[in-house]
Amino acid sequence: MLQSGSVVIRPVRTVAGTVRPPGDKSISHRYAMLAGIAEGTSRLENFSTGADCSSTLACLRALGVPWERSANVVVIHGRGTKLQPPTQALDCGNSGSTMRMLSGILAGQDFTSELVGDDSLSRRPMARIIAPLQTMGAKITAQEGGRPPLRITGGRLQAIDYKMPVASAQVKTCLLFAGLFAEGETRVEEPVNTRDHGELALRAFGAEVKTQGREACIAGKQDLHALQATVPGDLSSAAFFFCAAALFPDSRLIISAVGMNPTRSGLLDLLAGMGVRISVTQLEEQHGELIGTVQVQGAKLKGTTIRSPYTEMLIDEIPVLAAIAPYTSSGIEIRDARELRVKESDRIAALAANLRAMGATVEELEDGLRIPGEQTLRGTEIDPFGDHRIAMAFAVAALRAHGETTIHRADAAVISYPEFYSTLETLGQI
Ligand code: S3P
Repeated sequence: MLQSGSVVIRPVRTVAGTVRPPGDKSISHRYAMLAGIAEGTSRLENFSTGADCSSTLACLRALGVPWERSANVVVIHGRGTKLQPPTQALDCGNSGSTMRMLSGILAGQDFTSELVGDDSLSRRPMARIIAPLQTMGAKITAQEGGRPPLRITGGRLQAIDYKMPVASAQVKTCLLFAGLFAEGETRVEEPVNTRDHGELALRAFGAEVKTQGREACIAGKQDLHALQATVPGDLSSAAFFFCAAALFPDSRLIISAVGMNPTRSGLLDLLAGMGVRISVTQLEEQHGELIGTVQVQGAKLKGTTIRSPYTEMLIDEIPVLAAIAPYTSSGIEIRDARELRVKESDRIAALAANLRAMGATVEELEDGLRIPGEQTLRGTEIDPFGDHRIAMAFAVAALRAHGETTIHRADAAVISYPEFYSTLETLGQI
């Protein structure tokens, strides 16, 4: 029910049905970028329908990479390692992944490019990629505080041995991509393990990447070959439905062909620990990524605490977990989540403001939230602060609220999941 950018969500009795989530956003970005610099033509099925991955494709086109798309199949004609200098600024839209990971490739190109983004992206920290890429030999300028736009003059890069101060898979992937263009072996060590889609994608395109514990190493000057692949379903998009099912003891959902990479699937363990009945069938591996079908049945929902290293693993699922926290028996405490303050919005503040608008008691912490359980929420007006995951999280909370909820500027969801509201509508049982 999308009316002039707002969506009205009415409470439901339960949720039931089958969902095939859209292609994983993290994997779609990485496959598209690597396909662009590979030799040969790649065919990517079930490519993410989100606007963020379209930003990546548009940047690739501006860098001289031809591609065609029909629905969710994208065919990319790789140019090999040398891209074409862009004639105008590369527009990354709302996508931090596009800006950070593409910067790794641009650092290896012997031309200057400029990367710009929307208001939200223009506020996000880029120093985390600028500093190590400069050490490798790229020349980069940014706005005050290391914010976009970025101007990157790439060229000859030297490998580095880098201990990342912040846990970020985008930064890790950026540096491994830059490592492909460097002399020597680039070694990246992260403070806690983050999603390993970059490492797996590089291997799928034929590169050798060594990993051990929290370290990943890549030798420079390796050739990539084209890939034929189906992108696994996005677990972070499916998370909204897992959590919707968790709200109703008699719910029954089947989520098919969803990515089950162990660096991403912490949500399933967490929900199981909270009492939700979860079973996985048809588990298979494709290009290093696990894919499965998950059956979810609700139960009386217990509370939990989320801390590092689980916080990092669940980072994109925290908005929806916070939004359902008041309905749990003992509440949810989220810690070590400072990074949420520099996502598409300050997600800690956005969650606290909207939970309070629904009548919940919430304690906002510098690094997280403390949300007591056994609370009753009322339908109200939600401001997603331009953030796709905040909009979708409160659409889920609204399913068990008293009265109807209006999500303003709900179309923010197009960033990762354009079909979200229509799918949610098919699952709600009145
Ligand atoms: C992503 C990593 C995470 C995540 C983002 C996608 C990725 O960001 O929040 O939605 O694809 O690597 P950080 O790298 O900033 O933690």
